[in-house]
Amino acid sequence: MSTSSAGHYDLIVQQLVPGYASLARLSVALLATSPLARAAGATVLVAGCGTGAELLEAHAQRPDWQLSAIDPSAAMLAAAQQRLEQQPAAAQGSPIHWQQTTVEAMQAEASFDGALSVLVLQSLPDDGSKLAFLSALARSLKPGGQLVLVDLMAPERSPLQSQVDAAWVQFQSASGIAASEAAVAGLTQGIHPIGTSRLAALVEAAGLSDPAPIFQALNVQGFLLQKLP
Ligand SMILES: C[S@@+](CC[C@H](N)C(=O)[O-])C[C@H]1O[C@@H](n2cnc3c(N)ncnc32)[C@H](O)[C@@H]1O
Repeated sequence: MSTSSAGHYDLIVQQLVPGYASLARLSVALLATSPLARAAGATVLVAGCGTGAELLEAHAQRPDWQLSAIDPSAAMLAAAQQRLEQQPAAAQGSPIHWQQTTVEAMQAEASFDGALSVLVLQSLPDDGSKLAFLSALARSLKPGGQLVLVDLMAPERSPLQSQVDAAWVQFQSASGIAASEAAVAGLTQGIHPIGTSRLAALVEAAGLSDPAPIFQALNVQGFLLQKLP
């Protein structure tokens, strides 16, 4: 992603993803109540931090957390760092450990009490890449550590699905994106959504518990998972 698209990201993601404004707050709140990450000074991984929405929220809710923010995009990391520097709440938080890398390439065995992955898995093809990503996340967690995973999911078969699809276009249009723009927007390109049964199979293979549903807005769904002992 280029610097200009990183700058554009914060505007367009809210117009494109229903419920986005609540996602970071909800994800952090879930982890903050988890058995390991509720402890003071817990270590938390923000995988695919993008422009820093989850980091800002983590600083606001849990300034004591030891945050590791990773993203392979230098432009996204730079945008996140700049955004955090501008927020007074960020100054209260513990220093963030920034790393330009993917989850798969990260060296972190059982290091984290919790992890957040918001709108990241969806961009990886289901050709072994999704499993590698989830396995790396599972490896990075301590046993009992929890993961909040949010993604655009493939719809289950339903006679009303075409209406749900139409509602997404209507949502984007009401948010200020023309239907023609939505079709070409970078955020909708290169997405590889899977269904919930496929997700359940992948997370089991990765060593994570069954995904517990915690959020849904149209086809955007969130899950809470735990690393199995
Ligand atoms: C759609 S953005 C989501 C950013 C942020 N989590 C949010 O909710 O706004 C997805 C981010 O994941 C990053 N990403 C893609 N593949 C990744 C991987 N394998 N490991 C870690 N981050 C990845 C991208 O560079 C991008 O910044």
